[in-house]
Amino acid sequence: MSQHVVGGISELFLVNESGDIDLLTDAAFIVENGIFTWIGKEVELPAEKTKDLQQKAVIPGFVDSHTHLIFASDRVQEFEARMAGTRYEAGGIMSTVTATRAASDEELLAAYQKRVAELLRNGITTFETKSGYGLNIQDELRSLKIAATLTDEVTVLAAHVVPSEYKENRSEYVRLVIEEILPKAREYARWVDVFCDEGAFTIEETRDILEAATHLGYKKRLHANQLKAGEGVKLGIEMGCISIDHCSHLSDDDISLLTDSGVIATLLPIAEFSTRSAFPNARQLIDSGVNVALSTDCNPGSSYSTSMSLVIAFAVREMGMTPREALKAATFMGARALQRSDVGVIGIGKRADFLVLDAPSHAHIPYRPGVDLIAEVFKAGQLVLDKGM
Ligand code: NIG
Ligand code: FE
Repeated sequence: MSQHVVGGISELFLVNESGDIDLLTDAAFIVENGIFTWIGKEVELPAEKTKDLQQKAVIPGFVDSHTHLIFASDRVQEFEARMAGTRYEAGGIMSTVTATRAASDEELLAAYQKRVAELLRNGITTFETKSGYGLNIQDELRSLKIAATLTDEVTVLAAHVVPSEYKENRSEYVRLVIEEILPKAREYARWVDVFCDEGAFTIEETRDILEAATHLGYKKRLHANQLKAGEGVKLGIEMGCISIDHCSHLSDDDISLLTDSGVIATLLPIAEFSTRSAFPNARQLIDSGVNVALSTDCNPGSSYSTSMSLVIAFAVREMGMTPREALKAATFMGARALQRSDVGVIGIGKRADFLVLDAPSHAHIPYRPGVDLIAEVFKAGQLVLDKGM
């Protein structure tokens, strides 16, 4: 049996089953066989310490419930043009599709592995990722197969945009997604997502795709209300989506529906930053009782970042969240957005995925924006990254 007894923790970030946050100071914990088995004040520690953190804070590993990591090339010119005044449009996705289709399996896998290593350096110990830059049977399936090599949380996003070769025949592409891609993708993916927004899929198309997904036994999530207000959030809730992502343009009705349903609103502030758009009002959502999660949305078009720390900084500075709410949204709520109860929280019986910060409290993450404070990363009790801080 492997046992680690960790003390010298200035602040331990805890969230209980009901979602209440507790900051335990002068804390310690014991990990046995990769699972937390004891958590408490260091003075009550029932065993000899094997590791002393010398007054550093410990938080759960980040859970990133929304990324798009399977793609080739980048869109830095599009970003530069945007910073000079061009508007972000869903149509830009096609240029990544062209590059992704042209890449070899080895190139795609290597690029993915590199991005996942970057997630880990940023403290993300559990992540979801999507297809969506293949947009034909063969390239969607190989994207999903590659995705599944490094995570269990794989999402088929064949309905990202209608690819240009189907521009004049949208319904034929929707049929291809429903009848051919979704049934085959079940081998690799447990989630289905649709980009329901301006320039992507309509409400009717989205409904048809989500209905097919339900019949095939998928869990569902949705990109909605990113570029403009509309019926996407309402539809997603009606169709049983676990999480509705972006939620940048919400009506009062949307907010009431989110509150009443308990469906998670996953906010992705780096997308707003990188498309120079208005940030969603997380304060209003939380005050209305909405379950809010935060994710990176790492993708080459709207949000090419793996920094959950930066996400937290924006959420606090620009969206009205407190540091503790933002950290809970990036861990506990991210896990809920993936229907995972084994990760995202430091608690007895949970997998010991945790981060040692080079700081005395979690609030230093938004307080010190752009500074890497993640000193050590542990997965299932094992040290997987030590930055020597
Ligand atoms: O979540 N909004 C849809 N999909 C991505 C952007 C994809 C891209 O621009 O390549 C997002 O922002
Ligand atoms: Fe996205």
